[in-house]
Amino acid sequence: MEQYKGAPFGELSPHVFAVADASYRAMVNEHKSQSILVSGESGAGKTETTKLIMQYLTYVGGRTVGDDRTVEQQVLESNPLLEAFGNARTVRNDNSSRFGKFVEIQFDTNGRISGAAIRTYLLERSRVVQITDPERNYHCFYQLCASGGQDAEKYKLEHPSHFHYLNQSKTYELDGISNAEEYVKTRRAMDIVGISSEDQEAIFRILAAILHLGNIEFSPGKEHDSSVIKDQKSSFHLQIAADLFM
Ligand SMILES: Nc1ncnc2c1ncn2[C@@H]1O[C@H](COP(=O)(O)OP(=O)(O)OP(=O)(O)O)[C@@H](O)[C@H]1O
Ligand SMILES: [Mg+2]
Repeated sequence: MEQYKGAPFGELSPHVFAVADASYRAMVNEHKSQSILVSGESGAGKTETTKLIMQYLTYVGGRTVGDDRTVEQQVLESNPLLEAFGNARTVRNDNSSRFGKFVEIQFDTNGRISGAAIRTYLLERSRVVQITDPERNYHCFYQLCASGGQDAEKYKLEHPSHFHYLNQSKTYELDGISNAEEYVKTRRAMDIVGISSEDQEAIFRILAAILHLGNIEFSPGKEHDSSVIKDQKSSFHLQIAADLFM
């Protein structure tokens, strides 16, 4: 980042930092908004590239040392948060984004970051209820199941193999990734981004409720077109889902 800062475009070897720097300079010098479009097929590296660009922009547009750096931190921590809820393992990519995103970073007249807004669109919702081996559902579900201690217990969660929405695929783990550690990172990202503990609690309660909801099975009832809860196990999950949804 130090090397590319201020270097004329094309002077150093091609790098995403060169693109980010050229864009930043153009904004500062010409006072015009700039856009960087990151494209490519699944697994090409869009998500990783976007993170590097954001890292670079918070590096050149960060405030001087000693200042409170929360805006930059919030910008960067939005990534693990969005990935937990919108990325999943696919056959092409262990961390495939199942949504599109538009990141807007605002700068003041001194070229310092003053704010940010992130818009997401087209999340692949069907993945919540249906997955195929060896893909996975959204990371957040496995993270919550692995949260251990109080959280997993509070929500009556067990190993992912107990939940229909997760056990349609036998892939529960990702190479080199700990679900439990990722849970801690997601929680920390939520704190930094500014999601209150009540809201966090509500979010994880809903995630757990969705998993229980997926375990409710129905049988045909006595009357035409009616249905009843299939068995004891289904009643158990229904009760917990209802409790969690309040
Ligand atoms: N700059 C990089 N350095 C090292 N590894 C990288 C880099 N970029 C990508 N990768 C590797 O490739 C994998 C896929 O990259 P990434 O998730 O960014 O792809 P993507 O284009 O966002 O795909 P999708 O469209 O599925 O979301 C990463 O998890 C990482 O292992
Ligand atoms: Mg991606």
